Amino acid sequence: MAILIDETKRVLVQGMTGREGLARTRLMREYGTQVVAGVTPGKGGQSVLGVPVFNTPAEAVAQLGEMDISVLFVPALGVKDAAIAAIEAGIKLTVLVADRVPVWDAMEIAAAAKLNHARFLGPNTLGVLSPGKAVVGMIGGRAESAKQWFKPGLPAGVGVISRSGGMASSTGYYLGQAGVRISTIVHLGGDAVLGIRIPDAALMFEADPLTEAIVIFGEIGSSQEEELAGLIRDRKVTKPVIAYIGGKAAREGTRFSHAGAMIENGRGTHAGKVKALRDAGATVVDAFGELPEAVVERLKRMKGQSLMSETDKNALWNSAVTRIEPNKVAVRGYDIADLMGRVSFGSAVYLILKGELPTAAIGKLMDAVLVASIDHGATPPSALAARTVASTGASLNAAVAAGILSINQHHGGAIEDCARQLKRIADRCATDRVSMDEAAACELAAMKEAGDRMPGFGHRYHTKDPRTARLFALAAEAGVEGVHMQAARAVEKWFAAAKKPLPINVDGAIGAILADVGMDSAALNGMFMIARTPGLLAHAIEEQSREKPMRRIDPVHHGYDGPAPRTMTS
Ligand SMILES: CC(C)(COP(=O)(O)OP(=O)(O)OC[C@H]1O[C@@H](n2cnc3c(N)ncnc32)[C@H](O)[C@@H]1OP(=O)(O)O)[C@@H](O)C(=O)NCCC(=O)NCCS
Repeated sequence: MAILIDETKRVLVQGMTGREGLARTRLMREYGTQVVAGVTPGKGGQSVLGVPVFNTPAEAVAQLGEMDISVLFVPALGVKDAAIAAIEAGIKLTVLVADRVPVWDAMEIAAAAKLNHARFLGPNTLGVLSPGKAVVGMIGGRAESAKQWFKPGLPAGVGVISRSGGMASSTGYYLGQAGVRISTIVHLGGDAVLGIRIPDAALMFEADPLTEAIVIFGEIGSSQEEELAGLIRDRKVTKPVIAYIGGKAAREGTRFSHAGAMIENGRGTHAGKVKALRDAGATVVDAFGELPEAVVERLKRMKGQSLMSETDKNALWNSAVTRIEPNKVAVRGYDIADLMGRVSFGSAVYLILKGELPTAAIGKLMDAVLVASIDHGATPPSALAARTVASTGASLNAAVAAGILSINQHHGGAIEDCARQLKRIADRCATDRVSMDEAAACELAAMKEAGDRMPGFGHRYHTKDPRTARLFALAAEAGVEGVHMQAARAVEKWFAAAKKPLPINVDGAIGAILADVGMDSAALNGMFMIARTPGLLAHAIEEQSREKPMRRIDPVHHGYDGPAPRTMTS
């Protein structure tokens, strides 16, 4: 199904004889829209592309019967009279394409719509398109391209709500490229006074049985996204919401392209919208490019959930990690035999922790993170603990467990702590609307005053950790660059300016990268445990096979007699 428009809706085109009206009538009909009549005052009796033209909407309705939608290709100053005429003729949805419609006129249209229990979309809207069914307005341009770009929801699809016209089409296009089907794309218009707003469109998608999730292209200004968050919190919108909010860089009082996209008195900020939606449970991506993948992931997860058997539904408790059936093991829905030999260990770790497989580049980055922490010689507390316990004659599992138990705040734990501090800096940058450098300076000064150290920076042994540059290079290759990494650079700059050579260390780099990859902070130190386990195992085995039991292990004065430095052949 779809919302607002489909092939059964009878459409009137006001301003059909004008330049845009004529061109769009042709395209709308080519796409499948049922255009039944046109209206241009003084041109009644003509016909355009075989469609009869009337002087008023009332005349058209009187002659041809009820119409569902009127789309107006009427210039701004004529919109108020034209829209009110359509509303008073009993047409329940008017689509106002023109830009620069006076705000007072939009308010008068709103009053007339309310009185007549009608709705309007816009002003300044590209309209609405239900793939494979019909379009009113200008979304998608040529009918052929629109047919190719937007994949119809057969049977179900996602609903797209956009506050930007160009991005309405782009969102639909990129979702189509990612294989996502669409029920309807609706562009709300960028003006300050609008007919259908995000909460209204979201409720329509919620009621549409074949819309399975809602995708939002939001932007700063107004309270539309915050109101949607309220609907999600109140369980009035229960379908998954995946959103991107534009205008992150905008400053208060500056109009961000659209009249309605302006932060006023601290209202309508990017950070406020992101927080409200995330707190309510919506997925909000940081970059527009991440939106299609986030939608794909969410849909996959939903479909996985809908595969619950009656036994699962009636179970005392459920786990979403791995399903075990006779002769079958499926990790996060993927058959383990299919994963084996096809995904790297890093990708599998990402899958089991985040629930979805990473892209190839992120998988490579995950592997690099794990390799980076595999071992750091015999001096770190975890290696010493594993060796000490192994030397007592304890079992291998006890020795390795001792090593793992020594991973804490001051050893390995810097990953999580660093990610948390970087997030504080990034949050301050967003909420105080200051630069990242300024936010880092404030946070670091406060930490210094409190006698706290910035975790993840500096190393007691390395002045230039060989692992960090490589990790950041791989992160760049994978296109990972988020607020945590930006905050990390700001911290390094601050230390450099304070003449303190405290470059980011491997823990800090891993913390920043994993946080920007979207890894849950609760899993960050766990990544270090996973990575370090082989090293601990090697130390415990070597201790038991090579050294005398109960020896006194000197933590510093030991040599190395393994292979000489060598390079990999490929
Ligand atoms: C609405 C808009 C497209 C019209 O542009 P246009 O087609 O070039 O304008 P024209 O003057 O050729 O056509 C307007 C027609 O409306 C007709 N018209 C005027 N008042 C009317 C009314 N009350 N009822 C019906 N038709 C009316 C005019 O008579 C004219 O038809 P005609 O040429 O046969 O006389 C243009 O004004 C506009 O706003 N463009 C920007 C739209 C946009 O980009 N919106 C989305 C942004 S994301």
